Amino acid sequence: MPHDQGASFRPETLAITSGYDPATASGAAKPPVYLTSTFVYESAAQARDIHEAYFRGTGPMAGQPAYIYSRLSHPNLAMLETRLAAVDGAERAAAFSSGMAAHSAIAIEHVRPGDSVLHSRPIYGGTDGLYNQLMPRFGATAVPILDGCDGDHIRAQAELALSQGPLALIVIETPANPTAAITDIALVVAIADEVGAKTGRRPLVVCDNTFLAPFAQRPIELGVDLNMTSLTKYCGGHSDLLAGGISGRADLIEPLLQLRTVLGTHCDPFTCWLVLRSLESVAVRSERAMSNAQLVATFLRDHPKVAGITYLGFLPEGSPQAAVVARQCKGHGSTFSLHLHGGQAEAFRLLDGLRLVKQAVSLGGSETLACHSATTTHYNVPAADRAAGGITEGTIRLSVGIEHPDDLIADFAQALEQV
Ligand SMILES: Cc1ncc(COP(=O)(O)O)c(C=O)c1O
Repeated sequence: MPHDQGASFRPETLAITSGYDPATASGAAKPPVYLTSTFVYESAAQARDIHEAYFRGTGPMAGQPAYIYSRLSHPNLAMLETRLAAVDGAERAAAFSSGMAAHSAIAIEHVRPGDSVLHSRPIYGGTDGLYNQLMPRFGATAVPILDGCDGDHIRAQAELALSQGPLALIVIETPANPTAAITDIALVVAIADEVGAKTGRRPLVVCDNTFLAPFAQRPIELGVDLNMTSLTKYCGGHSDLLAGGISGRADLIEPLLQLRTVLGTHCDPFTCWLVLRSLESVAVRSERAMSNAQLVATFLRDHPKVAGITYLGFLPEGSPQAAVVARQCKGHGSTFSLHLHGGQAEAFRLLDGLRLVKQAVSLGGSETLACHSATTTHYNVPAADRAAGGITEGTIRLSVGIEHPDDLIADFAQALEQV
């Protein structure tokens, strides 16, 4: 099992050092990719002991480096999980084949028929579908939080959820997809505690940290139970893989690892290797993307064809949202929404006019991407729910990459002329 080199290092250092020890692989500076589906035992007794250690955590092989079959775990998965836990400041982590595989594992593990779930809105369309379309088929209900910085509103929505059934989870995505709407993480944790004290069942708080990634926002330090990240985005960082991660206390992560074995949604060796490598540079990539985003956002804000943008750096001074961002975020992110005067026709003209910026869903890659939220990422979210989340027909989501900012601004300038 790869060992952790120096838990006292800062996250930026741990992103490079933790999870892999060259001594375990002939001194190779970078880890090998273990392309194998199964692992050979030394003896029948050892096979039994390894299974006991995996399923019960007891016996002579407990805590020893040993693998059985790659769906259960494999060396690259262990490296990634060690590094992810270290970077997130958590006890343990689990890596999945996608962000949605991670979200689905949390829902399947913790939500039972009759339960309710509270979630922030807007929220990524897939997560919205998981809690508002799939989980209701198993008898669970979902209630949205429409203002994640207003304690009275969150408490009222928690009451509404409790009136429909025991509250199992509070799932927040902050900043949210696509508008970068903010939820106060510490406030939600405090409200979960209040619900627990009142009902005897404390809902778990799950925070989707995809938009700011581990360095610009640290949900575990703010008290969340499970920190979920789509590693596909900033952590992967090059739009060339799909993966998801969950970090938290060991007693919450271990059941998810056992469940993942049943679901078969582990992260494969090569993808783990890619994410392990990409985690090394996410801090510097994010810094550059965030400084580019500020320049692009400033240009767009001042353009006459733009009705508004939801960039975190431009929240009204003195607003509750600005105070929460100042408290809980170390940066303003590089994914935000642009609202054009007009509707779909104007939005499509802008998108079709872009030459450098590519039209695609996803975010957090090295290249700048743009898409029309209502007809792509949030296509399957009912129109009324989209509107409640601030998504209009003129909303375009931008994920600003690490190109030269002047080239990006020139591209938006020429495309806006065509609107
Ligand atoms: C905020 C957020 N969470 C979760 C997901 C799902 O992640 P994945 O595409 O890796 O399944 C996405 C995807 O866009 C997302 O934006």
